[in-house]
Amino acid sequence: MNQPAPVAIVTGAASGIGEATAKLLAERGYRVAVADLREEAAERVASALRVDGRDALAVAVDVADEAQVQRMVAQVVEHWQRLDVLVNSAGLESAKPFLDISLDEFRRVIDVNTAGTWLCCQQAIPQMLKQGSGAIVNVSSIAGQKGGGLLGTAAYATSKGAVIALTKSLAREFAKAGIRVNAVAPAFTLTDFVRRQLDTKPEGFVDTIYAATPMGRGAQPREIAAVIAFLASNDASFVTGHVYNADGGTAI
Ligand SMILES: NC(=O)c1ccc[n+]([C@@H]2O[C@H](COP(=O)([O-])OP(=O)(O)OC[C@H]3O[C@@H](n4cnc5c(N)ncnc54)[C@H](O)[C@@H]3O)[C@@H](O)[C@H]2O)c1
Repeated sequence: MNQPAPVAIVTGAASGIGEATAKLLAERGYRVAVADLREEAAERVASALRVDGRDALAVAVDVADEAQVQRMVAQVVEHWQRLDVLVNSAGLESAKPFLDISLDEFRRVIDVNTAGTWLCCQQAIPQMLKQGSGAIVNVSSIAGQKGGGLLGTAAYATSKGAVIALTKSLAREFAKAGIRVNAVAPAFTLTDFVRRQLDTKPEGFVDTIYAATPMGRGAQPREIAAVIAFLASNDASFVTGHVYNADGGTAI
């Protein structure tokens, strides 16, 4: 009997790493929910996938809002009757130095990057438990491993370090239930996220980052998507609780 095409939710899929991941998974035969705060942009990505003959659905969601996350998962399961993969790519940057960031700003970064990932996992896992399998890939950051660096600073690094602890905890808790949970830790990746930060930096700043990267360049979003797609796939069937650096050698 033919297996049904796997279903993936990708959050933050209207742009950058999430968008590249949604496209790559769709090319590999997944049915993809393009979930994002920016509804029109998500619809644009989903429509382009449908024009290419893929099965895609745009879903408006603020990952920091529990009711909206619940609705997102319900909508996807109602539409396709299953959920095989969750990619948590929605995220916010915070480039301010520690002494300048207010508690409210810190909380918003944690709400989206950490609590958002937490909520999406919490709502997706019950469906994966029913199916007896599933794969989650959380997008952390090299800043979550090394601490805030040239771009992401303390609030951002704290939010992404917590994502790594969450990833390992869930991997352990749900391993026997057939659910794998991994994280990818990208370094500098050329997306809107990074362009917004570079706008506020002096000229030549990007050269400083490249100089700190053994490969001497930033990543294309597709290069991060390829690692996410591997971790989500059955090729990674014995891999769980792992944080995969996709960083041009930055962590060496
Ligand atoms: N670009 C980098 O250099 C880099 C490096 C390491 C980690 N990351 C991480 O990769 C992930 C994706 O970043 P990107 O570079 O593709 O950024 P991006 O800004 O291009 O895309 C992020 C997407 O998330 C969406 N989003 C933001 N808040 C949301 C919310 N509350 N609910 C739902 N969607 C929301 C945005 O609308 C946007 O479409 C983020 O988690 C980021 O922290 C990026």
